[in-house]
Amino acid sequence: MKALTVKPHVKDSIQMRDVPDPARRNPEVKVRVIRAGLCGTDADIYEGNYGEPPPGDDFLILGHENFGVVEEAGQNDAGLKPGDFVVSTVRRPCSKCLNCQHGEMDFCSSGEYTERGIKGRHGFMAEYYVESPQYLIKIPPELQDIAVLLEPTSIVEKGIDHAYLIQRRITWQPQMALVMGAGPVGLLAAALLAARGLRTFVASLEAATDPRAEAAQSLGAQYLCLKDISLTDLPKQIGAPDLVIEATGKSSVVFAAMQMLAPNGVLCLLSVTGGSAIRPEPTDVINQDLVLRNSVVFGSVNAHPRHFKKGVEDFESIEKARPGALQKLLTTRLPWEEYGKWFGQKRSGIKTTLEISR
Ligand code: BGC
Repeated sequence: MKALTVKPHVKDSIQMRDVPDPARRNPEVKVRVIRAGLCGTDADIYEGNYGEPPPGDDFLILGHENFGVVEEAGQNDAGLKPGDFVVSTVRRPCSKCLNCQHGEMDFCSSGEYTERGIKGRHGFMAEYYVESPQYLIKIPPELQDIAVLLEPTSIVEKGIDHAYLIQRRITWQPQMALVMGAGPVGLLAAALLAARGLRTFVASLEAATDPRAEAAQSLGAQYLCLKDISLTDLPKQIGAPDLVIEATGKSSVVFAAMQMLAPNGVLCLLSVTGGSAIRPEPTDVINQDLVLRNSVVFGSVNAHPRHFKKGVEDFESIEKARPGALQKLLTTRLPWEEYGKWFGQKRSGIKTTLEISR
């Protein structure tokens, strides 16, 4: 079968190649990939900054944002059968840590987890893949057009879930949320927060007429252009947010966000920033703010299968309340042979997908 591969840590080594079809053993499921989403992590791997091949291979099949259809299945507890639509989770457990032993691979404490298409395990930019049913999330047919957004949505579901779990330490009824960044993760965060009934703002650099700003509004959030208003003036204009989701990919924004929080506020950091920036920050002021307001700042990566399942439920209710609004995030569909139009290029739009089969 055909697969889109890189040699990890070799910039620009991307190549479509023939690889053997994956062999299925019971109770595994063979999935035909319909499409894969592209994100900053894929770009980082392409640049040679990130990524690891599976043991014994010198290449990695890319792709972790995925959507496909079951091609072959034996008897399996999940009841998956040919024709079912599925999305696969990304992370697989290490063999030693307590968190992985308890199915909390997203909290792996040994660092020896693997991730499909990213670290030590082939991904989904291929005609087929084989997976254990426990890692596959069944997708209702009515969500097939947007299901490729489920993996990035799971990242946001985890961040929001954990913000609320952490705040079970007190009586917490957040009213207002601010999302920093209007990329796919930021916009998905806005969709989920607005659907929870929070007054939701998205702040980003794009002009108010940009499709990202329009997408934020059609998902129920208000958009603020950071060219018109400075980060420090933001709380003066909208009030202090109870929950901030940072999804800009710029670490400097994190420190500004720490200083905006309402008392008992929470800042959830979702950007994997691959750079090496060093900046002076007003550390006394930041520390005092955090202490005097009982603030929480936490980082969050990957997601538990329950966050994928919550994503499916939320997609269903968002589709009912705002039909077509999530679909607007999928701005560019490339036949997968045209991968060179995305990797290493200046990109526009919101989410690009590689269309692998129909
Ligand atoms: C993926 C996560 C993964 C993280 C770190 C993100 O792009 O969505 O599943 O855990 O990268 O590798």
